[in-house]
Amino acid sequence: MKIWGGVRLEGEVWLPPAKNSVLPILAASLLCDGPVRLRQTPRLTDVENSLALLRAAGMRTAWEGEDLLLAPGRAGKSALPDGPVRAMRSSVFYLAPMLHRMGEVRMTMPGGCRLGPRPIDIHLEGLACMGAAAEWKGEQLTLSAPRGLYGAEFSLRLPSVGATETLMMAAVKAKGITVLRGAAREPEVVDLARFLMAAGAHICGAGTSTIWIQGRERLSGAAFRPVTDRIVAATVLAAAAATGGSVTLRRCVPEHLEPVVEVLTRGGCRIRREGPAALTLAAPARLAGAGWVTAGAYPAFPTDAAPVLAAAFLTAEGPSYFEDTVFEHRFGCAAGFSALGGRAKVRGRLLELAPAERLQGAAVSAADLRGGAALAVAALQAQGESTIAQAGYIRRGYGDLAALLRSLGARAEWEGKTERENEGKRRTKPEKYFSEAGGISLP
Ligand code: UD1
Repeated sequence: MKIWGGVRLEGEVWLPPAKNSVLPILAASLLCDGPVRLRQTPRLTDVENSLALLRAAGMRTAWEGEDLLLAPGRAGKSALPDGPVRAMRSSVFYLAPMLHRMGEVRMTMPGGCRLGPRPIDIHLEGLACMGAAAEWKGEQLTLSAPRGLYGAEFSLRLPSVGATETLMMAAVKAKGITVLRGAAREPEVVDLARFLMAAGAHICGAGTSTIWIQGRERLSGAAFRPVTDRIVAATVLAAAAATGGSVTLRRCVPEHLEPVVEVLTRGGCRIRREGPAALTLAAPARLAGAGWVTAGAYPAFPTDAAPVLAAAFLTAEGPSYFEDTVFEHRFGCAAGFSALGGRAKVRGRLLELAPAERLQGAAVSAADLRGGAALAVAALQAQGESTIAQAGYIRRGYGDLAALLRSLGARAEWEGKTERENEGKRRTKPEKYFSEAGGISLP
């Protein structure tokens, strides 16, 4: 991605559905006996990889405009293809639905961003409590439950988002009642529960640390619009704040953004709610330092937003400290920050930022998805041209981030695309980017 920095961003953005909600819901469609319509599904590479897994498992999939339609088809294979499994962490979501559908699942270790060790022991321990047996041959996992899954009481040793979602998917069609203690409380966990309940599941307590689930033999299909993406929201706010700009977020859930809003307010931004689903931000010409920010499990500051917010504070007047308690290597973007002239230092899980007067465009490389978006936010403040290599990471979670930034007035484009593909270089209508059309149901 190429970015020419120094432009003040201004405008409004209609937020898309959350990647972290869409991906588990796609896997959960395997549990449904009827058709599923996912409204306004963003076109992300992780979504394309999920569709490859669903098709291998025997689902029929089709796009209808912005909606994704999924329906049970022929009997699929219990072995999932290595390519898409290795491309994303979210392939772990297929374990429980495949056990229900086929009684067995075989896959290699899920891939995803390298943020430090990402074991799947909690997923497997919970599934074992519910009757699944795991067998490893090197990196190849075979999980089977020939007699089906049954309800169990299980305490998660830490509030893993993915493991909570795996065990919810296992429990909705297990025999009997499941109680999950120490569950994750993220809005995307609640959203998966809302989807499953729309398909007929009995779930109580999602969004708290104890979830009760009464298993059912069958789930129907459902039409559903996932909750909006709070990390895309944080990225847009960070981009506007980094350039002294102003932005209105539409179709957002302000409650989900509270810790992000608090940090930006500390930096001197004026942020106002405009009704139930909109937020406006007006940034000062130069931010004050963020002080100390600790990212953790919801409702704490979101780990995924830490690199993008940090990027906005590179040229702040005071120091900022971003600590991540979830992942060991969250700040792979620090090398890129330094290459752009930022004064960034990583000590263990802590990113320290000393004030830099100005940033200068440079060639940098994305190390992971959110780190890549963080480099884009940094490049927006830099004088001159920046090139972000490995920007494919960004497409895993943002679709077309260059088009999104252009809709706010930025100069950003994908290298190697034709003039026509990058058209609307100056300003595209926001509605054209995330269309407002089609059965939106606000959460
Ligand atoms: C999800 C999000 C990701 C976000 C993360 C934390 C999706 C698709 N991804 O990832 O964007 O950064 O939540 O909010 O929703 N852990 C174990 N054993 C396990 C599972 C997790 O030790 O079996 C550890 C992980 O290594 C990590 C911590 O728990 O240190 C949190 O991970 P988890 O909440 O599971 O994150 P993901 O579901 O992978």
